Amino acid sequence: MIKRFLIDPVFGIAPPGLVLPPRERAAAAPGQGRDGVSTGFAHLVEPGAVDLSHGVILYLEDITVSFDGFKALDKLTLAIDVGELRCIIGPNGAGKTTMMDVITGKTRPDSGRAFFGQTLDLTRLSEAQIAHAGIGRKFQKPTVFGQHTVFENLELAMKTDKRVRCSLFAELDDQDRDRIADVLRLIRLDGQAQRQAGLLSHGQKQWLEIGMLLMQEPRLLLLDEPVAGMTDEETERTAELFLSLAGKHSLVVVEHDMAFIKQLGGKVTVLHEGRVLAEGDLASVQNDPRVIEVYLGR
Ligand SMILES: Nc1ncnc2c1ncn2[C@@H]1O[C@H](COP(=O)(O)OP(=O)(O)OP(=O)(O)O)[C@@H](O)[C@H]1O
Ligand SMILES: [Mg+2]
Repeated sequence: MIKRFLIDPVFGIAPPGLVLPPRERAAAAPGQGRDGVSTGFAHLVEPGAVDLSHGVILYLEDITVSFDGFKALDKLTLAIDVGELRCIIGPNGAGKTTMMDVITGKTRPDSGRAFFGQTLDLTRLSEAQIAHAGIGRKFQKPTVFGQHTVFENLELAMKTDKRVRCSLFAELDDQDRDRIADVLRLIRLDGQAQRQAGLLSHGQKQWLEIGMLLMQEPRLLLLDEPVAGMTDEETERTAELFLSLAGKHSLVVVEHDMAFIKQLGGKVTVLHEGRVLAEGDLASVQNDPRVIEVYLGR
């Protein structure tokens, strides 16, 4: 049975047990409709089925977050396209991590809206609901299970995916093994599957954690300073990995490493004092006098 959620545009996900009228139940039958069916009061959304009909996966509008009167985000407006690989740069304290906190529901904005696809207002969903809807976040410090093998880490990540109904003790089927093998190849750890994760290099642990996120098949990946502490070679491999993920996933990458951003080659957004200062390709934002002022003036 496909699990479905009733997303009310005002109140978020409806309480469990809410029964749909027969007409809506019929309209929501598997295979009918695309991403959601309007009931007049609400949209029916399958887990993982986000309305991407306008080609935008994330839209932040006038997001403001204050800490004791200080505005970490100040009417931040930003749109990320489906499949895009966007880099976010900006000096320390610009609000980059706070922006990710808002997207993932960790921080509630004072005002503004944050849409995932056309219909899901992230400011009204819990952190768990947001993860479930398909947003995966990688924090700076790798958090892999050091005592377990690389393979087991990926297996655990798959089994803790709430969308997949399977027991931690259930045997993997061939399809599961294939998925793990695919991810192992992507993160270049296919030769290390049986190695204890704690013995991996810092860069490899970061890749494993990205692999663990990928097991949950997120539509949008948020990566906060993913190459901090990596060697130059690991950094280059990471850029290749992200380039291979773009298109299938949308990625928002926060980084200070300009060589890495250059290799990624996508659109760059410069944040400063909680708002967008400049946006464009790396060369154009690096030549923007306002950006130079902000970086040199700090
Ligand atoms: N929980 C909090 N309480 C108070 N102030 C906070 C909190 N979180 C962030 N801030 C402040 O908000 C501002 C933005 O912080 P944020 O961590 O988003 O910046 P950043 O762009 O990620 O910086 P960095 O490049 O150093 O990681 C900073 O001035 C920070 O001190
Ligand atoms: Mg930060």
